[in-house]
Amino acid sequence: KNILLNDHIIPYESAYIPVFDRGFLFGDGIYEVMVREKHGVFFQSAHLDRLQENLHKIGLQYNISKIEKQIPELLLRNDLQSETALIYIQVTRGVAPRKHAYPDNPSPTLFMYAVPYTITPVNTSNITAVVVPDYRWQRCDIKTTSLMGNTMANEAAHLRNADEAVFVRDGRITEGSHCNIFFVRDGMVYTHPADTHILNGITRKIVIALCRQHRIPVKETAWEAIALEQADEAFLSGTTVQIASIARLGEHTYYEGDNCGPVTRTLQQAFADLKK
Ligand code: PDD
Repeated sequence: KNILLNDHIIPYESAYIPVFDRGFLFGDGIYEVMVREKHGVFFQSAHLDRLQENLHKIGLQYNISKIEKQIPELLLRNDLQSETALIYIQVTRGVAPRKHAYPDNPSPTLFMYAVPYTITPVNTSNITAVVVPDYRWQRCDIKTTSLMGNTMANEAAHLRNADEAVFVRDGRITEGSHCNIFFVRDGMVYTHPADTHILNGITRKIVIALCRQHRIPVKETAWEAIALEQADEAFLSGTTVQIASIARLGEHTYYEGDNCGPVTRTLQQAFADLKK
């Protein structure tokens, strides 16, 4: 298994990050997760644009243009040309003496790996989720490697035998620990606005576009946590979950077993069609 570290593709066993890397000390970095499918990396340019935007948001000057060439090279070096694969990219502010203030002339660390990843055209497995307080910071729009709040929430879900944790901030549902969330009521689709309290998912944007194409009305309005039972359907969106129907959220059950609502089903099908 070969990974990319800075400009070199090397076996992962021989890849090391210096202990003074700010990614290690502060979680001072940005990451992306993408999947390579039959036709190439799904919405690659949207992911790379977001990476660039996020680096800009944390004031880290780094030219990501070489990544476009490095992705196929990394896949090739792992014999993943024809398989579906998950690609992880992270850029940190690199090695510097430990000070909170950013170093004057950072030398960023680029790390990228690719692994085989099975992705079904339609995600038919229903999800169970619990609701947890959104104890994360106020810049959830930044796809930072500082993910303590997200991992804590996800662990809390697993301890309660659920698949995912969904955050609630000021009484409203924001997003999942590693995905966005949508609600459906009377044929109308609702999701949290793309402000600083959520990550504006590439899949979230695709879902909104698919709704418009299928003449399903969408409102970027956050759902109230006390009104979970007033939704007809709820689903998650994200690179890894794709579009996943929620069977149970908190105390409320939307669908039993593998059943799922008609709007969720339509969107899952439309999403699968994008990959044909
Ligand atoms: N997570 N919200 C959060 C907090 C996320 O971490 C993610 C993605 C999303 C969905 O974004 P997208 O549709 O662009 O994948 C929303 C990735 C997959 C991860 O951390 O593994």
